This record gives sequence, structure tokens and C-alpha cells, in this order.
Amino acid sequence: MNLKDEYINFFVSKGHKQIPSAPVVPENDPSVLFNTAGMQPLVPYLMGENHPYGTRLCDYQKCVRTNDLEEVGDTTHHTFFEMLGNWSLGDYFKEESITWSFEFLTKVLHIPKERLGITVFAGNDLIDFDEVSYNIWRRLGIPESRIVKTTEDNFWIAGDTGPCGSDTEIFYFRSDDEIPKNFDIKDERFVEIWNNVFMQYYKDAEGNITELPKKNVDTGMGVERTTAILEGVNDNYLSSIWKDVIDLIVEISGLPYEGHEKSMRIIADHIRTSVFIAADPAGIKPSNTDQGYILRRLIRRAIRHAKQLNIDINSDWDQQIAKLILKKYKSYYKELEDNYDVVLEVLKNEKIKFNRTLEKGLREFSKFTNNKQDIDATTAFHLYDTYGFPIELTVELANEMNLKVDEDGFKQKFREHQELSRTASQGKFKGGLAGNGEMETKYHTATHLLNAALKQVVDQNVHQKGSNITSERMRFDFSCDHKLSEEEKKQVENLVNLWIGEGLEVTKKEMPKEEAIASGAECMFIEKYPDIVTVYSIGDISHELCGGPHVKNTKELGTFKIQKEEASSAGVRRIKATLE
Ligand code: ALA
Repeated sequence: MNLKDEYINFFVSKGHKQIPSAPVVPENDPSVLFNTAGMQPLVPYLMGENHPYGTRLCDYQKCVRTNDLEEVGDTTHHTFFEMLGNWSLGDYFKEESITWSFEFLTKVLHIPKERLGITVFAGNDLIDFDEVSYNIWRRLGIPESRIVKTTEDNFWIAGDTGPCGSDTEIFYFRSDDEIPKNFDIKDERFVEIWNNVFMQYYKDAEGNITELPKKNVDTGMGVERTTAILEGVNDNYLSSIWKDVIDLIVEISGLPYEGHEKSMRIIADHIRTSVFIAADPAGIKPSNTDQGYILRRLIRRAIRHAKQLNIDINSDWDQQIAKLILKKYKSYYKELEDNYDVVLEVLKNEKIKFNRTLEKGLREFSKFTNNKQDIDATTAFHLYDTYGFPIELTVELANEMNLKVDEDGFKQKFREHQELSRTASQGKFKGGLAGNGEMETKYHTATHLLNAALKQVVDQNVHQKGSNITSERMRFDFSCDHKLSEEEKKQVENLVNLWIGEGLEVTKKEMPKEEAIASGAECMFIEKYPDIVTVYSIGDISHELCGGPHVKNTKELGTFKIQKEEASSAGVRRIKATLE
């Protein structure tokens, strides 16, 4: 039986209900691109809502973490991984949680307790030393010398705000060396395998910590790492999770794993993650924004490494690898079965697309690097824009020649470009920038005023759902559960015209995304914005994340008139308006 099944069986025997893995693309949390931990889909329940399955839950959750894309290629990093988790929603607490973890590790997985190292929360100004957990571990037979107390490493929160708490972490001594008497957390032979978080607090944006309505437990154990440990291999890619995938790459390339580890690991990892992203119910396709851009980068990086292994990239190598991965996982994840053909199609199409420009791009790259000069932002962006080279591909190629790339400069250009294409794709300018004329600019500013007026007149919770601008009129979709009354329409119109008459200055400021959100700036989809954003303010009545352009002063706008108000879709109304 494999680790996932053993784990679920064990926790079900302790009164837990198995819940299905949530999709990799979060359904109700626009603040992140992917689920990065098992607890993420459970946040509302950790905050106090009742879960339909009860108070004891367990699962294996698909997670995607792409912040360390460049690190993939070593023995332990993966962009996709499965996290085992068990939760108590105001049910059991430290005693059962620790005892069961210990029982599972030593009795079910037969890990000798002598190989374990433990950390517990040492205490700070706000929260006391976790003596309860410490004593439980001592009682279970872990000697003092193997329990380390820390503050920073033993407090867990996903991101900056949300449910959080002190934790106790379990480490395993992964080496054939003699096990040292003392557990030193800096000793890399000890690797973390399980984290039990005692979530009883909530941290808000100002950093205040308050008690949650219930004391919860949230745990997480990595499937890839634990499987490698149980199978006694020091390279995750040699465990049963990966071995057949690596073997297939060896067969396709005709090259041995030894000496080609990095490229083979990257191909295996990136194709697996791409399979899961492409199979997700969110229907992600390779593109130049958000999840689609991550998918594109993963596939293209895999293709580049396939090329390095002299694999004929026009052959069906990617399909063979994807099919093997689909076969391995489809009994656990139904969407792989349902979207089998979609996944293969996505990979194939992206390969064809990239293939068309890859050769030319590589030639262009060599031209630039002939004189051994570092790559500036314009060149890196040219390679991206014209030949579809994701930045890490350019960086990787440059590194192979000991050259540097101006990555920050590239990011700046990329951001500017994304803002332009976003604005165009939202239909704000008819025909993209070509339609970026005087009238469109005026309508763009009027859109912000209308958004602000609707909030004041109708409801603070009105939000923009869409916008379309031509030189003749503006169209604005917004969340609202009722048809606007004549009175409301008139008030909105009057308010916009009042602001126009006041001659308010329109100003523009760049700031980090977090700062913009904290200041309450309005935006449609926060995750769609880069780290540094532009906020446009109109006097002090409107602050919005926006790519512009806008007029300098509202007095340029003329007279605002609502021409029509109608339903757009469920819970969304549409206003058509003109400036005269
Ligand atoms: N949420 C905790 C983690 O991801 C268990 O480590």
C-alpha cells in the first residue's frame, strides 16, 4: 500500500472524514494563483464556519509552488507536490494531534523514534512557550537533546494574514551516518517531514493577533519527501514516485540518468506540474498572464531541456511522459481521467507553437552573446516578445555562458507590456492602443468616477465586473442585485457631474501591490497585477489600480449622461453612458 492510502486509512480510523483534494487553482481565493498548502481551501472553516463533513478531516491536496522555479533540478525541489493533511476544527488539540502523528510514524511507517528530531515553540512577548507539546513529546520518549525550541521557525501562517498559530515540527535523520545525540536544526541531514500547526489565532493586516473562535489543528506532510525517506533514497527522483518517469526519459533520450540529472529532473517535474494545471477544472491554457503564463513557462522550459538531451522535440516524447503521469495519478484525481485528451492537446499545441520560434530565438540569442556581453533588458524582452523565451530560459542560457541578464529591467518591461495588453484585452481601447484617443481617455477617467459614484449612491460593495470603451460611449458592468431606480440613476449622474465640475486633479503613483491594497485602492482582480502597480487617484474620491491613460483634470470631461441601465448577467448590471 502506498503512503497516501496508509495515511488516509490511519486518520479515518481515528474518526476523520476524507475530503477530496481541491483544484490546484483556488476556487474562491483570488489572492493566490495556486493552492500552496493543504489548509488553503479550508481557511473559512479554520475561521469558524461549519464544515459539511464535520470537525475531523483528512486529505491529500495538490499543491503548486512556482516561486523557486530555478531551483528545480536538484534532488528535493518540485513545482507540484501532494500534501497530506489532517485537521481538527475545534475538536481535538495538541494531545491527540501529536500522539497520532507519532503513532503513524512509528507504528504504521515503522520509522525508529531514534531518527526523529522535534521542534516546539519557544515563546515570545505575545504567546507562551508551548510546554504542553514539549511534555507530550517527552512522554512519548523523545529525549530532551532531540527537542529544539525556536520562535520564528515554530509559528506558521500562509502569507501575511489569516489563521495562524505555533507549531511543532517533526524532522527525520536522512543519512547513513551515525545519528548525533543532539538535534541541531542547522544540520541538513535532518529534514522536516511533518508540521502540526495549532491554529488558534488570526493575524490581520495591521499585525494584530486575536483568538479564533475555535482552537484548530492543521497538519501537513509532503508525499514526495516522505516517500523518498521510506524508500531510503537520497534523491527524491529515485523514489517510486519518479523512477518510472525518469526511466522513460532515459529510454526516449538514449542517455543515462547519471550526468544528465538536472535536465531529466526538470522535464519530469515540469511535465507533471503542467499535466495537473492543464487538467484543472479552471481550464487553464498556456498564455502570457497569470496561471497560463506559469503553464507556458513550465512547458517551454521542459522543451528546452528535452532539446539539451538531444530528444527530437517534434516526436511524441512529451505525450509519452504525460501519458505515464496521467496513468499513475488518475485513480486518485478524477479530473485527469476527465481531461485526459485536453492535457495532451495543451502540451502538443504549446510545443508546436514554441517550436516555431525556438530555433530562430536560439540563433538570435547567439548573435547577441557572440561578443560575450551581458544581456540587457531590451534584448531579454525582445527574446520574450518575439521568440517566446520566458525569462528563466534566457537566464539559464546566459548562465551557461557565464553571462548575466538584467532581470529587474526585464520585469519592468514585462509589467508595462502586461498592463498594455490587459487594458486592450479588457476592451478599454477599441483595437488596443490604436484606439487610445482623446475620447477614449476621457471615458476611461469617467469610468473611475462612475465606479466611485455607484459606491456612494447604491452600495459600498459595488465592484467593477467589466468595462468596454469606444470613442462614442462607455459601458460599465458592476455587481448589484437590483435594477437601479430612476432616483438612483439621477443621483449617480449628478454626482459624477459634480466631480467633473469641481475640476479634480488626476494623479498617478507607483507602489508595491500590498501597499496599494492596504490603502484600499479599488481593483478588479488583484492576482492579475504585477508586484509594483500604478494607482490612479482622482482628487480624494477615487483610487484605483489601473494602467491608464487618463485626463489630467476632470474638468476636461464635459457632461456625463447615463443612456441606459440594464441587466448584464446574474447579479451584474450594465450602464451605458456618454460624455457630451
Ligand atoms: N499548513 C502547514 C504547512 O503547510 C501545515 O506546513
